[in-house]
Amino acid sequence: MAALQSFLVCVIFAFAAILIPTSTSAQLIADFYQNVCPGALPTIRSVVRRAIRREPRMGASLLRLHFHDCFVNGCDGSVLPDDTANFTGEKTAFPNLNSLGGFDVADQIKAAVEKYCNASVVSCADILAVAARDSVQTARCTTFRARIYIDTNIDKSFAASVQQVCPELFKGDNSESDRLVQYYSYLPGHFARDFGASMIKMGNMKPLTGNDGEVRLNCSKIN
Ligand SMILES: *[C@@H]1O[C@H](CO)[C@@H](O)[C@H](O)[C@H]1NC(C)=O
Ligand SMILES: *[C@@H]1O[C@H](CO)[C@@H](O)[C@H](O)[C@H]1NC(C)=O
Ligand SMILES: *[C@@H]1O[C@H](CO)[C@@H](O)[C@H](O)[C@H]1NC(C)=O
Repeated sequence: MAALQSFLVCVIFAFAAILIPTSTSAQLIADFYQNVCPGALPTIRSVVRRAIRREPRMGASLLRLHFHDCFVNGCDGSVLPDDTANFTGEKTAFPNLNSLGGFDVADQIKAAVEKYCNASVVSCADILAVAARDSVQTARCTTFRARIYIDTNIDKSFAASVQQVCPELFKGDNSESDRLVQYYSYLPGHFARDFGASMIKMGNMKPLTGNDGEVRLNCSKIN
């Protein structure tokens, strides 16, 4: 029934939100690293892919990490620094404590791009934005419905857990969310467009640039 029209995971075709140093106001351009370190973004992508192969939930964690970074005072990498004796950061704030994941992957990405670029040029905020982009893939309930309901060579508890969320968004009560699910299921291109636009809008929230920010040497602490 409703499963057909439901999205489990979302599609994104967003541009990366990349910081560009500017003397006036914060401004982002999509191909900033093309000049600074071509290959930086593919390097991020390969670490993200490896992490997701190891732990499939990591994609969702990295997407959420970017969201939590942006929603406290802008997309500035502020979710990453560790607390110190005289600094209390966001990592241990109540909504994040024991709930956010992906910090280790952010560190792995940072190490990989520093090595690849031979320099500390990729900001921690950009790492979170690009990793979030690379974490999201095309999938609707209908894409894997047969796999979780019919196939027998699948872990039973895993199949049961995915069956729970497969028809998640569609409630069948003609609510606003039902209408959105229907609209986007008939026009998946519109979903990709709107979701991408939303992500870009979020990624543009108060980014720091060359003048008011710094490229951290270690994402876990300020320089
Ligand atoms: C506390 O702050 C001072 C001054 O900002 C700094 O020099 C010191 O290293 C900090 N101590 C710790 C433990 O972070
Ligand atoms: C980093 O250094 C190595 C060895 O010097 C060089 O081959 C490589 O092209 C450099 N990478 C970048 C992105 O500059
Ligand atoms: C980054 O800093 C943290 C301390 O906040 C430290 O535990 C970690 O080892 C550092 N990472 C690297 C690669 O130096």
